[in-house]
Amino acid sequence: MGTALVLVVVFNAFFLASGLGSSAVANAAAASRGSDDDGIKIYIVFTARQPAPETLSESAARARIESFHHGLLSDALDDGGGGGSGAPERVVYHYTRSLHGFAARLTQREKNKLAAMDDVLSIHEKATYHPRTTRSWDFLGLPRHNDPKRLLFEKDVIIGMVDSGVWPESESFSDSGLPPPPAKWKGVCSSNFTACNNKIIGARAYKDGVTTLSPRDDDGHGTHTASTAAGRAVPGASMGGFAGGTARSAVPGARLAIYKVCWGDDGCSTADILMAFDDAVADGVDVLSASVGSDFPADYADDLMAVGAFHAMRRGVVTSVAAGNDGPRLGAVTNVAPWVHSVAASTTDRRIVSDLVLLGHGKTISGSSINVFPGIGGRSVLIDPGACGQRELKGKNYKGAILLCGGQSLNEESVHATGADGAIQFRHNTDTAFSFAVPAVRVTKSQYEEIMDYYNSTRLALVSIRNSQARFDATAPRVGFFSSRGPNMITPGILKPDISAPGVDILAAWPESMSVSGSAVDDRQLSYNIISGTSMACPHVTGAAAYVKSVHPDWSPAAVMSALITTATPMSASSTPEAELAYGAGQVNPLHAPYPGLIYDAGEDDYLGLLCAQGYNVTQIATMAGGDFVCPEDGRGSVANLNYPSIAVPILNYGVRFAVDVPRTVTNVGPDDSVYHANVTSVPGIAVSVTPHKLAFSSTEKMNFTVRVSGWLAPVEGTLGASASIVWSDGRHQVRSPIYVFPLSATRG
Ligand SMILES: *[C@@H]1O[C@H](CO)[C@@H](O)[C@H](O)[C@H]1NC(C)=O
Ligand SMILES: *[C@@H]1O[C@H](CO)[C@@H](O)[C@H](O)[C@H]1NC(C)=O
Ligand SMILES: *[C@@H]1O[C@H](CO)[C@@H](O)[C@H](O)[C@H]1NC(C)=O
Ligand SMILES: *[C@@H]1O[C@H](CO)[C@@H](O)[C@H](O)[C@H]1NC(C)=O
Ligand SMILES: *[C@@H]1O[C@H](CO)[C@@H](O)[C@H](O)[C@H]1NC(C)=O
Repeated sequence: MGTALVLVVVFNAFFLASGLGSSAVANAAAASRGSDDDGIKIYIVFTARQPAPETLSESAARARIESFHHGLLSDALDDGGGGGSGAPERVVYHYTRSLHGFAARLTQREKNKLAAMDDVLSIHEKATYHPRTTRSWDFLGLPRHNDPKRLLFEKDVIIGMVDSGVWPESESFSDSGLPPPPAKWKGVCSSNFTACNNKIIGARAYKDGVTTLSPRDDDGHGTHTASTAAGRAVPGASMGGFAGGTARSAVPGARLAIYKVCWGDDGCSTADILMAFDDAVADGVDVLSASVGSDFPADYADDLMAVGAFHAMRRGVVTSVAAGNDGPRLGAVTNVAPWVHSVAASTTDRRIVSDLVLLGHGKTISGSSINVFPGIGGRSVLIDPGACGQRELKGKNYKGAILLCGGQSLNEESVHATGADGAIQFRHNTDTAFSFAVPAVRVTKSQYEEIMDYYNSTRLALVSIRNSQARFDATAPRVGFFSSRGPNMITPGILKPDISAPGVDILAAWPESMSVSGSAVDDRQLSYNIISGTSMACPHVTGAAAYVKSVHPDWSPAAVMSALITTATPMSASSTPEAELAYGAGQVNPLHAPYPGLIYDAGEDDYLGLLCAQGYNVTQIATMAGGDFVCPEDGRGSVANLNYPSIAVPILNYGVRFAVDVPRTVTNVGPDDSVYHANVTSVPGIAVSVTPHKLAFSSTEKMNFTVRVSGWLAPVEGTLGASASIVWSDGRHQVRSPIYVFPLSATRG
C-alpha cells in the first residue's frame, strides 16, 4: 500500500486500427509527458476542506478558496515569496466544489515545501491515463424504442462522458422530440463548440488548465462511447453497408454532457479528469462514464479517478468505468474502487468474420478482421515476404499480391506502400475482429499452417480476401480474451470486475472526419465504426444505470450498482477458467435492473469503513472524505463487512480449511409483505449457509442476514477457484449474489 505509482492512463479501447504491435497502449514516453522544462511538473494537491460560510454566494466562496490556494502556493514558490506574485500563474485548476484542492506547476523543491504544510493532505504527480453497437442492445434483450413517451420519461437523466469529446453531427445525437434540458442542469457548452442541442446539453474540454479548446472529438473513441451510452435509435446504421442494424443505446431520451479529457497520443491526465469530475457533479449529471484507466491498479487514495468518483458518489452520482484490456492475466483489473462499477467486456452473438478463399483448393478460411473495402475479392497471388515490418517491405512492389505476414506485426502503412492487395497474419487469440487500413485477415496458427501448406503445394497460389460477414455465435456471451481479470489487487475481498457488457466488435457512431482504422493511409470515412475494448462495454453499463435512474431517480449509487449486479445474467465458466474474476456477476440485464426486488445499499460511511479496514491512515482518509471522518476506535472492522452485492472469498491456498462469515443487509424495494427464501448453489467441498434463510418484509425495510462460506478448495483442472451463489427469491424476483472462493497464492505466482 501507499506506493506512489506513476499512473499511466490509457483509453481502454483496443485501437483496432493501430496495427499490431504498435497498439494504442501507453508507453513510457506518455508517462513522462507530465513534465515540462526545468523539472517543472503538474501536481495535484489535496487540501484540508476550506470552510466557506453558507451565507457567501457561490462566486464569493470560490474566490475565498482560490485565495487560500494562492496563499499556500506563494509560501512554497521559489520565485514567488512576498505578495504571492506568481502563484495564480502556476495554478492549473482550482477544485472547489466536491473536491478540495488544486493542480499547479511546481518544481520538486516547491512540491516538497507544500507537502510539509499542515493544510496539505497529499500531493500526487499528474499521471496519464489512457483510453481503454446496434446489435449489442438487442442481444441484451432491451426492446428497441423511439417511443416518444419513453423518450420523455428518460429526459431528466443526464449522462456525463469523460472521454475524447464528441462528433456532434452524428445522427445518433439528434435532439428531435426532446424538450430543453431539465431545470437541474447547471452545466455549460464551451464557447468553442456551437453544436449543443437538446441531446448534447453540455460540452467542455480540459487540457493542463486550458479550458478553451474544442470538445470536438478528434479521435473517435468519445463519439463511439457516447452514442453507446445514450445515442438515439438510428435505423439502418452500418459500417459502410456492413453489419447493418439499428444503432442505439439503452436510454435514447437521456441527455449527454461531454467532458473532453483525452487528447490522442497525449492520453488523459489525472488533473484534467479530476476537474471534469468536479465540474460534472456540480453541473448536475446523474451518471458518469469513464472508459479510461491507468495501467496498474493503485491504492484508492492514489488513484485520482477513484478519488473523483468517491466525491461523485457522495453527491449521488454513480460512475461506470472500464476494467482494462490487460487480460487474461490475473490481477490485471484496474479501476477497482467499490464505489464504481468496473465493467468487463463480453462477446455478443454476432461474430464478425472475413473469409480468405484458397482459389486452387476452393477452400475458405474464416479469419477475424473487419474488411469493408470497395472492390475487393479479386484474385491475388500469395507471396511470403518473410515479414511485414517497415524494414522488410521498404521499396518493395507487391502489386497484385496478398502477403503472408506470419505471427509478427503487420505494418499497414508499409503493406499499403507496396501496392499489395492485402495481408494475412496469425494471432493466438482471434476473438476480436480488427480493422486494418488495408484488406487483411487474422487467422489462428493452425489456419495459418493450412495456408502455408497451400502456398508450398503449388507454384502459383491464388487467393482472394472477401469483405466481412456477420455470423451467429452460439457461444456468446463469453468474456473477451483481452478483458482484464481479477482479483482486485487493492482489496481482494471485493469482487472485480463487477459485471460484463458487450465490448467485442461493437458498432457505434464515428466522426466522419476520422478514418475508421485510424491510419493515415486509410481514406475510408464512415459514420459508424466497429471497435472492441472494455471502453465499449463500460457505456453499456452506464446506459443501463441511467435506465435504472430514469425509473428510480432517488436511488443511491450503491442501490443502482446492486440492482445491476443482482439482476445480471449468470455467465458460464466453461471457456473461462477465471470465472467470476473474469465476468463478475455476469452479463448486464438492463430490462430487469430497475426491478431487483431487494437491494444491497451502502453510503459514504460504509465505504470509509472499508478504507479503515484496509488500514488507511488519517491523511489518506481525509484525501477521500475531506477531513471529518475518523475510523471507529473499536477496531477497524473487516473488508467483508461492506454491504457489497457480490461476495469474494480470498483464501490462502488450495486444500486449506477456511470459514468466513459475511454479514449483509438487504432493503426491500419491491411490494410490501414480500417473503424471500435463500437458495444457495455451491460445489463439492465448499459449504454456503445463510442465517436466517427466510426474510419476511412488511414494507420497505432493511433486514440482516449472515452468509457463512466454509470448507476447503480442491484444485480442479481448468478452474482457478470455486463459484457459488446465493439467490433470494420471493417467487417473482431472483436476487442473485455471486460468491467466488479463490486462492491468493495462485494469483501471486
Ligand atoms: C499516510 O500514508 C501515506 C501513504 O503511505 C503516507 O505518505 C503518509 O505520510 C501517511 N500519513 C500519516 C499521517 O501517517
Ligand atoms: C478552439 O479549439 C481549437 C481546437 O481545439 C483551438 O485550436 C482554438 O484555438 C480554440 N479557439 C479558441 C478561441 O480558443
Ligand atoms: C513452406 O515453405 C516455408 C518457406 O517458405 C517453410 O518455412 C515451411 O516449413 C514450408 N511448410 C511446409 C508445410 O512445407
Ligand atoms: C433453488 O435453486 C435450484 C437450482 O438453481 C432450483 O432448481 C430450485 O428450484 C431453487 N429452489 C427454490 C426454492 O427457489
Ligand atoms: C443490522 O446490521 C446493522 C449493521 O451491522 C446494525 O446496525 C443493525 O442494528 C442490524 N439490524 C437488525 C434489525 O438487527
